Amino acid sequence: MFSVVTVFGAPSPRENRIFVPNEYLLNIPEMKLWQKNGTDTAEVDRFTVGLDREMDLSLARADLLGSLAHTRMLATIGLLAQDELADVQRELKAIYRTVEQGDFRIEEDIEDIHSQVELLLTRRIGETGKKIHSGRSRNDQVLVDLRIYLRREIYEIVGGVERLFRTLQRLADRHKEALMPGYTHLQIAMPSSFGLWFGAFAEGLVDDLTMMEAAYRVCNKNPLGSAAGYGSSFPLDREMTTRLLGFDTMSHNVVYAQMGRGKTERLLAQAMSAVAATLNKLATDNCLFLCQNFGFIAYPPELTTGSSIMPHKKNPDVWEVMRSKCNRLMALPNEIALMTTNLPTGYFRDLQLLKEVLFPAIRTLRECVEMADYMLQHIEVKHDILNDPKYDYLFSVEVVNRLVLSGVPFREAYRQVGLEIENGTYSPLREVHHTHAGSIGNLCLDRVDALMAAVLERFAFDRFLQAEAALVAE
Ligand code: ARG
Repeated sequence: MFSVVTVFGAPSPRENRIFVPNEYLLNIPEMKLWQKNGTDTAEVDRFTVGLDREMDLSLARADLLGSLAHTRMLATIGLLAQDELADVQRELKAIYRTVEQGDFRIEEDIEDIHSQVELLLTRRIGETGKKIHSGRSRNDQVLVDLRIYLRREIYEIVGGVERLFRTLQRLADRHKEALMPGYTHLQIAMPSSFGLWFGAFAEGLVDDLTMMEAAYRVCNKNPLGSAAGYGSSFPLDREMTTRLLGFDTMSHNVVYAQMGRGKTERLLAQAMSAVAATLNKLATDNCLFLCQNFGFIAYPPELTTGSSIMPHKKNPDVWEVMRSKCNRLMALPNEIALMTTNLPTGYFRDLQLLKEVLFPAIRTLRECVEMADYMLQHIEVKHDILNDPKYDYLFSVEVVNRLVLSGVPFREAYRQVGLEIENGTYSPLREVHHTHAGSIGNLCLDRVDALMAAVLERFAFDRFLQAEAALVAE
């Protein structure tokens, strides 16, 4: 039923023998990269690999790009001959194409993406495949993979946010004349407008992308060459891999390069959480304004959901689910902080699990951004909301200000209108004259456009896009 299995590297000789159910041993896996003989325990394997194969599929493209750059560098320092380099490059590019076509798999017995690529290469070109790991460790390999993967995801997130921004700006302009109540404490306060409402979220996204830009700057640095965390005795040309991979610069200090694992993820999660917070408020406002007691907006029936019992229902389930997803996204920086807190310097396998929390979260955020854009493209906005007498008090400040303009001191005007409200003689002045920057009559949409254009330009995504294209070019 059970076999005794020797665990190499166990803390003490007494602990190095464990009992493993026989069924785990029927299928002896291929040797791990780090194995020097054939012994392994399926149980340990299952526990430590966990979801990593699935997660690592997302890193396949990045892993190949990293190896394409690393091997070109190895050839310049004499660790690969030119003909070996040609074989390696040709096959890495061929594997890259299988990834692009969606045909790439990580085999069941293979531990991770790094092992899978090296194995494929060795199957195709023999001994030369085993040379590509010189001067590298999986520790810096996974680091560089993550940075290449994450910067591409940032690029995609930013693209989605930019589209959402354009939709919001368009809606703000289209509905700038449509007034709506403004609230403080969720009590009727002063006139607002759909121009202000849509425009506010657009401008919010500019700031969120500023956070994203910071995360991108930290992410777009080359950790390759830090190897296991302490560099290598080979004269690695880190400038060259930095240039080839289109990084802004490198993480110079090899110890700091490794400290970047966890930090990069946490900073990105913080930026993602900024976008999520904006979407969350947008979702909540949508739910509220769709409620019949507000009735400010409507959506076509196919974008709402019905009830199994109440035939009249048109529920804002999309916005509700988005609100919840965004709440979870806002918990992400905290989760990452907890997973990485109190780790000393140097690599730890703990870090592997960051992929499991971050990768699905990135997908969720991208979906939320796209869905918000899709919903808003179909929003219907009610005009003449403020004609309802229940909104009369929105104009109290307008009446006060009119008195001020006629020479009454503000405090006196405030008192007069207050008394009118109390004794029932208040009559609203339904004209709104807001002209200063950022107000109903002067949304400054063009200035906000310019701010967005400036942030987008600073990302300078072209640098990495061109570098990656050049690495895989035939
Ligand atoms: N799957 C590992 C991770 O994500 C790859 C690096 C493995 N390195 C190691 N020393 N075990 O961290």
